Amino acid sequence: MKHQFKPSRRRFMAQTGLGLLAAAVSPTWVRAMEMAAVTAGASAANRANPNFRPDVEIDLIAQAESLSILPGQPTRVLHYVAKRVSGPQDVLTTLPGSYLGPIIRLQKGQKVRINFHNRLAESSIVHWHGLHVPADMDGHPMYAIQQGQTRVYEFEVLNRAGLNIYHPHPHGATATQVYHGLAGGLIVNDDEEARLDLPSGEFEVPIVIQDKRFDQQNQLVYGSTMHDRMVGYYGDQILVNGRPNVTLDVASRAYRLRVINASTARIYKLGWSDGTPMTIIGVDGGLLPVPETLPYVMLAPGERLDVWADFSGRRKGTELSLRSLPFKGVLPKMAEQMMHGGSGQGMGGGMGHGMMGGGGMMGAMNLPVGADYPIFRIRVTREMGDSPRLPGRLSSIRSYSVDDVANAGRPIPIGLSESPMAMLINGRPYAADDIQANERIPVNSVQLIEIFHAHGGEGGGSHGGDSSGRPAEGMGGMGHGMMGHGKESGSGNMPMGGMGMMFSMAHPIHLHGQPFQIISRSIGMGEAENYATVKDGLIESGLKDTVLVMPGEKVRLIKPFQDFKGLFMYHCHNLEHEDMGMMRDFLVE
Ligand code: C2O
Ligand code: CU
Ligand code: CU
Repeated sequence: MKHQFKPSRRRFMAQTGLGLLAAAVSPTWVRAMEMAAVTAGASAANRANPNFRPDVEIDLIAQAESLSILPGQPTRVLHYVAKRVSGPQDVLTTLPGSYLGPIIRLQKGQKVRINFHNRLAESSIVHWHGLHVPADMDGHPMYAIQQGQTRVYEFEVLNRAGLNIYHPHPHGATATQVYHGLAGGLIVNDDEEARLDLPSGEFEVPIVIQDKRFDQQNQLVYGSTMHDRMVGYYGDQILVNGRPNVTLDVASRAYRLRVINASTARIYKLGWSDGTPMTIIGVDGGLLPVPETLPYVMLAPGERLDVWADFSGRRKGTELSLRSLPFKGVLPKMAEQMMHGGSGQGMGGGMGHGMMGGGGMMGAMNLPVGADYPIFRIRVTREMGDSPRLPGRLSSIRSYSVDDVANAGRPIPIGLSESPMAMLINGRPYAADDIQANERIPVNSVQLIEIFHAHGGEGGGSHGGDSSGRPAEGMGGMGHGMMGHGKESGSGNMPMGGMGMMFSMAHPIHLHGQPFQIISRSIGMGEAENYATVKDGLIESGLKDTVLVMPGEKVRLIKPFQDFKGLFMYHCHNLEHEDMGMMRDFLVE
């Protein structure tokens, strides 16, 4: 074995001093830290720990660059580039001609050091979405560094095999930095996965899906009208691995597609053009227990899929594509009507246009969310006689039941509410040093969490406490589609009650740290029709770190909070929403 020295987690923390640091985290300390960072502009930069012996070390640099994406002029982008300092040769795989960062490949149990150098003209910080690392290694915005500074990450890979994402996380600028190119895949491998002998090498293909808009000079367009921030920003061109119009030449055998939705807001409903069902072997938190076969799969920003794509038996010359298939209901009703050129019955049209100002809406109009369009094409260019077989069993997952949770009767609420002015969780926007009672979590506990829609004034919750932001049971769903439903909205003088509900939309909610299990989903009556267009593409059997919560939907999940104390974010992974403040911290203590 490569790793002779495998300290226990606790010893590892003590050795690296992380234990102490974690213990020192308190809201006051966090605030002090932030203030210091603002005034000195330097305190988040740090140094390597001489006692930490990495198995792998890489330099990761964020910089501005110009590269060719479309025919003609090159495009200005932001780009993560990386260099291996030490460790296995295969730790970095560059995607040719792409602004995306290289795929980072790690092994469970490895000790990793990553030296992040910020060469952007703005502050930034890297988050390892999906990895279970100490709070101060997680890329919290309070650790953002300025141009020219370095932040050193040191952690042990505790995750099981899976596909993760690294991306920036500076507060208020995550969406724009990701949109302009900062993102990459991070694969963890382990022994359980290795035993399956899944397709690898050229037969394991990363598929990073994004949507962008380009101007006449091939430059990226990123708008920030009120509308863009409220519903999310949508491009009108799909890029795969940073390239337009992608065709993948394949042999007639099984492939493993490692799919990431790295769009800021766009939700996809992935299906094969010829009606072949989708075979899924893994999700955010790694391999499923057994493969699942579905007619299509939903993929929201931040979510990942491990797709078994078997082209065996197909003749040379066969073409097909992976498409986003039609669906409804993820955007507020008026936005959806505008996009699909609807007549804007009731308030939809007229009012919407006036309030939202056209600009960024164009991308969404040219390639509406929920329309039917190709993501990339497949062309069979080689026939092969034999192919690996899909394993019947993939992995074993430690699964928790409600008996394991510390708070069975009182789930931690994540109440989502939206309005053109604010995207909130439990009635509050993101703020440092604003930990509410239900956001304090004992370390090494397992918690029941409930995500639901808490519209406008119903959400309330300014008082914190256990019941903060919780509407009466069942109300979230009932109200939908019924304008002017009883309660007035929180926005004060809005002309109609139920304004909050008008803006109800889908949110991919991401919780940092260890992955969770989804234990139930329920949908309000008014939403059943739209929900029917997505529901067969939701996978519940695996471990997740991001869950698509549809309008009117309530999702219950169980999540462990083990090993590390400190601040761990939870937020909407519609990155425009995140930047608007639809984010909070859990304080694990
Ligand atoms: Cu992928 Cu907190 O984010
Ligand atoms: Cu994350
Ligand atoms: Cu959202």
